[in-house]
Amino acid sequence: MNDKVSKKIFSSKAFLVGKRLYLRPLLKSDITKRYLSWLNDAEVTRYIETGLFPVTEKDLEEFYKKIRVSKTDIMFAIIDKKHDLHIGNIKLGGIKWVHRFADLGIMIGDKAYWGRGYGEEACRLLLGYAFNRLNLNKVTLGSYATNLAALKTYKKVGFKIEGRIKKLLSIDGKYVDHVLMGILQSEYNKKAFK
Ligand SMILES: CC(C)(COP(=O)(O)OP(=O)(O)OC[C@H]1O[C@@H](n2cnc3c(N)ncnc32)[C@H](O)[C@@H]1OP(=O)(O)O)[C@@H](O)C(=O)NCCC(=O)NCCS
Repeated sequence: MNDKVSKKIFSSKAFLVGKRLYLRPLLKSDITKRYLSWLNDAEVTRYIETGLFPVTEKDLEEFYKKIRVSKTDIMFAIIDKKHDLHIGNIKLGGIKWVHRFADLGIMIGDKAYWGRGYGEEACRLLLGYAFNRLNLNKVTLGSYATNLAALKTYKKVGFKIEGRIKKLLSIDGKYVDHVLMGILQSEYNKKAFK
């Protein structure tokens, strides 16, 4: 497939376009065995609550129905442009429209894409959307203190650690800190992180 043809295919659905990725709304057709396998993969869900209980196709359909009509959660599918392949999801969740903040959540489900900067690119696209288009004042998130890849990714795109809740989260028979991070629109606008 040449570049012109592939561009046409993705451009009708693409919402936020980056160098190697684009973000588009999650579609019903994304509910596949591939997507389901991510949610039942203990390595992928090690640091996200989703992995605590087994997930079925029906659960995913119910989740999809809720997310499509939600006024406080905006979920995107992360798509590798080159292969037009769904590799994970990213969202702005729990949006507080009065206070103008939201929580970022990300899962790259296809492990072949880990550690190659795709998480960073997806976060950058989402932050641009949050601050430039939605005019949010702040984006926050929380992470296990032991999720080093996530913490590194968030720091790279401009998040700062704002607090820690000591030994809040249970993993591998131990309690670890819950790290709270945030980035303000004003910090983002200093352009250092774009
Ligand atoms: C966390 C996640 C989004 C990161 O995305 P990614 O595309 O793999 O991350 P990036 O490649 O942009 O950056 C990861 C960085 O962490 C580093 N890293 C990866 N694993 C690491 C580890 N175990 N210890 C220390 N650093 C690590 C990478 O080398 C890279 O740093 P670099 O750019 O200096 O080389 C992705 O791995 C993921 O979705 N994981 C599963 C779900 C999850 O944990 N979500 C986050 C919940 S808070």
